[in-house]
Formats: sequence, C-alpha cells, structure tokens
Amino acid sequence: MLHPLRLALLAFFLVPFCSHGALTNDVIARATAAVAAAAPRAQTDPARPIFHVASPAQWINDPNGPIFYKGFYHLFYQLHPFSDGSGPKYWGHVRSRDLVKWEALPIALWPSSEAGETEIWSGCCTINGLGQPMCFYTSIGPDKNAFDRADQWAAIGDDDLITWRKSPANPVLTEAVNEGKKIYDWRDPFIFRDGPKTFLVTGGHMAKDREAAVNIYEAENPELTKWKYRGVMFQHPDAGAPTVECPNFFKLGDQWVLFVSPYGQVQYFVGDFDAATCRFTARTRGVLDYGSSFYAPNTMQVPDGRRLVWGWLNGFPGGHGWNGCLSLPRQLSVSPAGELRQNPAPQLSQLRGQPVEWKNIRLENGGQTLPLPKTNTLEILAELDLQTAKSIGLTIKGGAQDAAPILIQFTDSELQVMDAKAPLTVAKDGRLRLRIFIDRSVLEVFANETVGLTKIISPLGDTPTLELHAEGGPARAKRIQAWPLKTIW
Ligand code: FRU
Repeated sequence: MLHPLRLALLAFFLVPFCSHGALTNDVIARATAAVAAAAPRAQTDPARPIFHVASPAQWINDPNGPIFYKGFYHLFYQLHPFSDGSGPKYWGHVRSRDLVKWEALPIALWPSSEAGETEIWSGCCTINGLGQPMCFYTSIGPDKNAFDRADQWAAIGDDDLITWRKSPANPVLTEAVNEGKKIYDWRDPFIFRDGPKTFLVTGGHMAKDREAAVNIYEAENPELTKWKYRGVMFQHPDAGAPTVECPNFFKLGDQWVLFVSPYGQVQYFVGDFDAATCRFTARTRGVLDYGSSFYAPNTMQVPDGRRLVWGWLNGFPGGHGWNGCLSLPRQLSVSPAGELRQNPAPQLSQLRGQPVEWKNIRLENGGQTLPLPKTNTLEILAELDLQTAKSIGLTIKGGAQDAAPILIQFTDSELQVMDAKAPLTVAKDGRLRLRIFIDRSVLEVFANETVGLTKIISPLGDTPTLELHAEGGPARAKRIQAWPLKTIW
C-alpha cells in the first residue's frame, strides 16, 4: 500500500500535468519535479515544523493571496522550487477546510517565459465584479526589474483555485498608470473594498532609497483590469524607512489598519481612511511581531467577518531540503484606543492532545520544575501573577539532547524571549497570560492577546520540562496547561 505521504507527493507531482494537459510547459514540469525530488529529505528533517504551513520542500517566503472561497481557506506562498535557498519565485498553494488540516496542492503560478516573465512575486487574490477569482501579483523579467520597472499582472482562476490562466489584459498595471510619478520597488498589489469602490495598494518608495509610501489605485471596471492612480495613500512617517513591502489595508470594527514590511519588524498603523480623497491618516502605530523572524504578512477575511493574518517565518539554517514556513493563523482585532490585538485562531485547539495541568503554584526563591508532554511539538498556556515579584522567568528545556533552553522572562513593562524584547503592559493586577507554541524549530509566543514574538530555535529533546522562577519577591502561577500538538498534514 502507498504510504499517505507518498500518495500526497504523487498527487502534488501529477496534478499539474492532468489539469493543464497539452499546455503544460517545461517551466512547471521542471519546478514540480524539483520540489517532489527534495520532499523526502525535507519531510524527514527532525527540525521541520509540523503544525505550521510550509511547502512540501524547498525555499518559501511571503504568504500570498490568502482567500476563503467556496468552503476552503486557500493560501499561496512565494516558492523557489529549485533549492532551499532564495531564487526565482513561483506561487505554491495549500488549502484547508477548517484551518486545522491542510493539503498541499500543485504550484499555482509560474513564470510565462514566452511572455518575458522570470518570476512571480507577491500579491493578493480577490473575486472580481463578474464573480471570477483573480490574483494580482508583481511580474518580474529581464525587462521588468524589481527596483524600477516591474509590472503588476493578473490571472483568472477556476473555482478550485488550482488552475489559473494569465489575464489577456496583462500587464494590468504598468508604470504608465502612475501619471509620471516614479515609484521604486513598486510591488505587492493588495486589493480592498470600501462601499462600492474597489482599491488596490502597492508598496515602494518615491525616492531611490527613501520616502517609503503606499500608493493607491481605484478600479474602473468590474473585470478589475483598468485602474486609475489616486496618489500616495500613506507616506511612511519615519525619514529612515527605506521602503514598504507587502502593504495590507483593511477595516477592523470602525478603524482602518495598515500593515507594512519595511525591511525590518512589521509595523501596523491604525486610523481613518477617506475613500473620496484616498488618504489614510494614522492615529496609532505598533509592531506586529517583536522577533526578527516574522515578515511580509498577508491577511484573509473569513465569512463571519474576522480577519486572520499569516507571516513568513524565516531564519532557518539552510541545507535541509526546506527553508521557511508560515506563522500560525492569528486572529486580529483593534482596541478602541487603536492597539492591535492578536490571538492564535481558536481552531488550533483542535490540534491538542492530552493535557497536563497545574494550578496555584507559589513561586519564591528558586524554581519549580514541571514535566511537559514528551514531545517537541507542544502548546503551553501560563497564567501568571507577578504579585510583589519584579520578574517571572520560564525556562523550557528538552532533556539530555538539548542544545539551548528556551528562556522567557517578563517584568511589569517588558517581555523577553531569548534575545528579543517587547514592551508589555501587564494587567493592573499584575497578571500575564502567555501562550507558547513550540513546533520543533519554531517558537511563537503570545502575551496578553496583544504581543506576538517569534523565534527560530534549535528543537527541544523529547523529555521537556518547564521551570518557573520569580525574582525580587513571591509570585504565583495561577494555572499552567500544556498539550502535545498534532500535525496539520
Ligand atoms: C518581501 C518581498 C516582496 C516581494 C517578494 C519576492 O519579502 O521582497 O516585496 O514581492 O518578497 O519574493
């Protein structure tokens, strides 16, 4: 009998040939074969995450075009099919019915070499005014240099979003649309709607190495193939910001939120959008993830109106047949004061196995050591109370094989996870709620449903323990729970 993993890989390998028939070209055949060839090695690597979305193998970066359509959550991602290092980009594809179990699908988009494309960069998916699924992306080629000459292209999808054909209207946006304004690194189209109007925003900068700005375009036809330039929607307020990549712009409650990736920690801005003038005025700002491994996030609106975000997790060691994965889906909201809130999607609790639990542990002088589920894929929930202590520390060790323990510490104003720090407001009563996800080489920490912090770690051994300690006075662990987590595949 075929092992399910082999069956999945076979499907991954064969479907492009079935669905494109005679049109299958050499480019996609070679890319598909390269991913399939690397998969056995990638999938047996003990450091490869099991509950974070990734390609079956090879290099991935940004999540692209997240969309909920006809009963499936679809995610695409930047894929370099030919190695586990960066190189020419294609769009990989996964889908899920429930945000819990995911299915790897054939490569969705590849360069149309006959049309002078060499790479398919980041973008979005939407449904146009005729009800057709469309994706928009930045098209790169020898005469479409990313820095100063890229175009924005579109493709039209079948209902399963597996088969795409490039729009006959390509390029849908060329530099000519910008009415003479030069925009450098003009890329990463993202579409949003406000009332009856459809807008598209792009990243880039207005001077060669500065003046980072989000530019905005308004759709002029239901097919979304004609666009009018409406100017700079948002000029980045920091003089030093070199560019903004992958803008995402959406409404949460009655406030508008902008995400930008400025070659560093991802920033959010919350404020008001005026659809008549096409200007966004930010009132507050913050950082989406305080580690240095979360970048270029992309968001999806789900049918009940909630907004989810995935980021690209990077910084893994090379040479293992895979490199990169996506963050956990995080559910977003904004406080009335304009602070972004984030929580792992509630569906993730379906990945939990048998829990272990402790209640009301007094922490004073020296540590308490608790045995965790015997795995290096787990979730820990810690409800902690500083009381009169200055700080509480958590040390997670994996047993004998462990290279480096995970160190987490917080005071009433700061959270520290290994070498990364985040400002923190613990509740007035000194309480902190931490959710810690350990997925072999990925660590994602959420504090008080607000702070996110991701780190790449060396995987724990298989007898992990959690040690708790308080400094400068007594403190209390109100509740500690831990679960082994299952694979999403
Ligand atoms: C962000 C980014 C995007 C670009 C893509 C190329 O990580 O640089 O701006 O479209 O990656 O892979």
